[in-house]
Amino acid sequence: MTFDIFTTDWTTARKKIGGWQPEPRASDIFSGNAHSESAIVEGVRVNRLCVRPSVKDKLAKINKSYALCESLKIDWQEQSIESLQLPYSFTWLQATPGRFDFHFDMPAVVRCLGLGERFSDLNLRGNRHTLFATDNPHHNEHADMLYKSIPFLILADGEKYTGIWIDSPSPQRWDLDTEMVEAAKIELFTRRGFYFYLFDAATLPALVAAFTAMTGRAPLPPLWSLGHQQCRWSYPDEETIRHLADQFRKRKIPCDTLVMDIDYMDDYRVFTHSKERFPNFASLAKELAEEHFKLITIVDPGVKKDEKFDIYRQGIKDDLFCKTAKGEVFIETVWPGLSAFPDFLKAETRSWWRDSLKFYLKNGIKGIWNDMNEPAMFNSQRPLPDPFFEMPEDDKQLFLQTSDDDGSIGHFEVRNLYGTLMGLATREALLKERPNERPFVLTRAGSAGIQRHAAVWLGDNTSWYEHLQKSVPMLLNVGLSGVAFAGVDIGGFGGHTTPELLVRWYEVGVFYPFFRNHCALMGRAQEPFSFSPAVEDMVRGLIEQRYKLLPYIQALFWEHSRTGAPLMRPLEWHYPGDSLAAGCDDQFMFGADIMVAPALRANQSSRNVYFPAGNWYEWQSGRKLEGGQRGCTIRVECPLGRLPAFVREGTILPLADIMQSTDEFLETPVTFQAFGSEASGRFFEDDGISHDYQTDKYNEWELVVADGRLVTRAVHNGLDVGKNSRTYRFQTADNVVPAVLATY
Ligand code: GLC
Repeated sequence: MTFDIFTTDWTTARKKIGGWQPEPRASDIFSGNAHSESAIVEGVRVNRLCVRPSVKDKLAKINKSYALCESLKIDWQEQSIESLQLPYSFTWLQATPGRFDFHFDMPAVVRCLGLGERFSDLNLRGNRHTLFATDNPHHNEHADMLYKSIPFLILADGEKYTGIWIDSPSPQRWDLDTEMVEAAKIELFTRRGFYFYLFDAATLPALVAAFTAMTGRAPLPPLWSLGHQQCRWSYPDEETIRHLADQFRKRKIPCDTLVMDIDYMDDYRVFTHSKERFPNFASLAKELAEEHFKLITIVDPGVKKDEKFDIYRQGIKDDLFCKTAKGEVFIETVWPGLSAFPDFLKAETRSWWRDSLKFYLKNGIKGIWNDMNEPAMFNSQRPLPDPFFEMPEDDKQLFLQTSDDDGSIGHFEVRNLYGTLMGLATREALLKERPNERPFVLTRAGSAGIQRHAAVWLGDNTSWYEHLQKSVPMLLNVGLSGVAFAGVDIGGFGGHTTPELLVRWYEVGVFYPFFRNHCALMGRAQEPFSFSPAVEDMVRGLIEQRYKLLPYIQALFWEHSRTGAPLMRPLEWHYPGDSLAAGCDDQFMFGADIMVAPALRANQSSRNVYFPAGNWYEWQSGRKLEGGQRGCTIRVECPLGRLPAFVREGTILPLADIMQSTDEFLETPVTFQAFGSEASGRFFEDDGISHDYQTDKYNEWELVVADGRLVTRAVHNGLDVGKNSRTYRFQTADNVVPAVLATY
């Protein structure tokens, strides 16, 4: 058989070579079992297709959606499928009893964004993307399946933004113009029904607002979680943790959080602590709190198979674990050795987990880090059979889970939900124990809507410049997929960082919404003081900038909670219609007013920076850049240790004085720094810890510079916060004066 690369129908060719014999394609297969509706969501038209194919003479179920916000009220209007006028010649069919195919055109001008966590440039086009939660520590150009699965793709063609979302936790393969020419195909592997959504938006912010109106926005995180977090796999004992805390304070390196990885446990038994190495577990958090540190512990889902272990026994007794088709508890190997896996689809399991988490909360642990929750298993690291052409019957999958709403279901069908449901239970535990404290949960795995329950980090990167570079487009796509509170391990998790790489990583990391230094057991230490005093000074300086930016960062989270806007944004978000901005993914906007253009290579001393419309100021020097007009690229020096940021002319940034932890935040003076003689900005303030802002207990001001003076207007004045202790200043290019904020 010979193929001409230009004329071959590769889909057919692949079938011939692979011997794959799909069911004959039926035409119009959704007819009768599908219906369509439309609605306007936050000004954006959304069409949805509800598919319930027939299986064995009955209609398949649509499983409960854990992606849609429960409180969501949308007025869906029924419409006929035939009347649908969809962009890009969308078509669909059921290819086999266990697979649905969607086809659409992809003219060359279309760029593809979003789709959750992908090891990719910003434009995802020209690749196949499989969404199936996988513990894959090898992040390279071939890495396909990763930890998170968020099936929301944005097609940007320069005129409009089309969103495609498949609300199904089943595995999916999104082929974005690799198999066919200027065409795309999505294969959805399921034997269940599902909802398929198409959004038709005029702008990127409008599209993300509509998607996040449906799947949720992260509520305000506790302020301390936005400070510096220090982690290592693993600080072996409590002395080391105390020493670490001491070092941060002695060396005056700001830090809020210390994180305990798996070695705090007794032989990796979840909900325990080692009596030898952490004998004072109960008082450790308290002691550290006196030094203004919060303590976080890792919590993995695998429960050690050990008849003497009460958690394992309880799980068995109450039937809370995932089971094989033969009805036996499914056992696989993770850190504790042979382990059972909680079935988080069951509400009863979630309550059990939630209550068990009290162990940490009673001991003063402030936040919970959920890891290995794809779920990772050492002998089934990539459980999806390859090749995978259709969803096998439930009992032929790795194991079964049970949902209260939908009954028994094969694990593959719902695997992408595992991390999300563990996150849901964890968040509930924190809320239940501390009803008026904002919970902090961090997760590795997650699906659409995960932002309602947890912050995320992007798993096991390596101390390579390539991974520093990729962190920018990856986090931009994660943010466009609804997940604003995200970061990657600063310094790199695997391998050995170098002093230069660590400093470069902090230069970008200051702008990761989630700001954590973490590295693996086998690697070189990379705490900020692990290298020379000169490196320590640079890292300290960068972390201080993060604390300085906290009032601005807080305002960005506030914006996210109301509009879904991510903190890290592609340039195109604010400069639509600028094709140079659209092609740029080694720079990003941090909110509307700061543009970040980091050094991402070794031995770099300068780089080209693209400046979109307007004039720009260099962050560190406050100097106005010459020639910063629309479409202008300037060669900029990037000395090691300098924050690679530029501020838009016409803005007022609220900036805090340096502090050692956010415990000082409400007493720390805030300076409103104006960039340009005509400038405006906003300032948001609340207690940083409780949910009271949701009942109007927050303050917000509009700031304007007029005739060289700062004029403030209270937009909202709900809280008497730090009124007597905090002072405000107004800073221009040549002057700093006290400022008084207007009352309502
Ligand atoms: C996984 C996590 C990593 C953690 C390690 C040990 O590899 O991704 O962050 O340190 O497990 O718990």
